[in-house]
Amino acid sequence: MALPYFGLDIGNHSIKAIRLDSTDINTRLVGYAYGSTPAGVLTVQDDESFKRLAKAIKDILNSSNLASVKQVIFAVPESHVIRQLMHLPYMNDEELENAVIFEMKKWINAPIEQMRIDKVVIGEKIVDNQRIIDVLGVAVRIDYLDRYVELLSSIGLEPIAAETEGIATVRAIYPQATDLTSTYLIVDVGSQSTDVSVAFKDKLLYSDSIPYGSDSVTKAISQTFSLDLIKAEAYKKTYGMIRGNFGGKLADVIEPVVDVILNDVRRSIDFFRTEYSEIPPQRIYLTGEASNMPGFLEYCKEKLMIDVVITNPWQNIEINSADAANLKKNSFAYTVAIGLARKSDVF
Ligand SMILES: Nc1ncnc2c1ncn2[C@@H]1O[C@H](COP(=O)(O)OP(=O)(O)OP(=O)(O)O)[C@@H](O)[C@H]1O
Ligand SMILES: [Mg+2]
Repeated sequence: MALPYFGLDIGNHSIKAIRLDSTDINTRLVGYAYGSTPAGVLTVQDDESFKRLAKAIKDILNSSNLASVKQVIFAVPESHVIRQLMHLPYMNDEELENAVIFEMKKWINAPIEQMRIDKVVIGEKIVDNQRIIDVLGVAVRIDYLDRYVELLSSIGLEPIAAETEGIATVRAIYPQATDLTSTYLIVDVGSQSTDVSVAFKDKLLYSDSIPYGSDSVTKAISQTFSLDLIKAEAYKKTYGMIRGNFGGKLADVIEPVVDVILNDVRRSIDFFRTEYSEIPPQRIYLTGEASNMPGFLEYCKEKLMIDVVITNPWQNIEINSADAANLKKNSFAYTVAIGLARKSDVF
């Protein structure tokens, strides 16, 4: 039986939706939708943008095989999330709930009543003969969540849960990382931001959102070579940062933008190498459509000096051949939507 809900990822560039049928034996794709996000609607938050976004989501779903499904789990972009990894002395569930709120207050600039605070218990360990619980605290503004609930309700959907992109991403990628014995990073390159998640097994330990994505690369190409954005985008996708092209001139423009992203990734690697030296980062999984830029994988390997792979989030999901052909073009874009669709603890 297909799950009664679908996962919805509303990105700055594209809207992605996935519905799965999940049993103990296998996971099968039963529905999906993809379409462009109208330009600027997520950054300009006025009523007009709200309506245009609602209409775009409705149209995309109506022209897919998800039109009759009402229940939805949506993603909260990492840029709207405050999160903090904590190591607390062992306590019962109720005490832990309060302790997480108490700790999170230190990191939040708004009145606590305006925030929705959640926790992900990562695990327990013994330190100096003391039982310690590792917990990730996660906070999102309630009015931000309310706005999405209103948006989705306005087109007849029933939001049943929301989850941060980082948590969804780890759930989507973990089936491919089961061989690892240490931590790993997932770098999801989007259009306007790049999200970095650090995970151990199936648990998110840390996440960060870098306000640079693949559109920054397009803009840099466009400005340097006086090309319109469509041409600049085509150059990016076709030639990317391979040094052999155009005497390295295109690579010269792209590398500084990518370096900003990789500097941040390196900081996360260094932090976990030092603070979690018993489980240092073992591999990086690149995902998001933009990670397919020619030369990007090789550049990451060279700069970060760690095992890096490009990962397609569809491994371990059965897809019929017609859907597989349709999905081919944007298959890397679905990571967050797949992670949401795989969420099983919603009721
Ligand atoms: N082959 C490719 N090479 C380089 N960049 C690409 C390629 N294919 C897509 N992109 C870029 O990927 C970006 C779109 O990715 P995606 O749809 O995952 O973004 P998004 O989730 O909507 O954005 P965000 O997460 O920032 O809100 C665009 O910037 C696009 O130019
Ligand atoms: Mg995205």
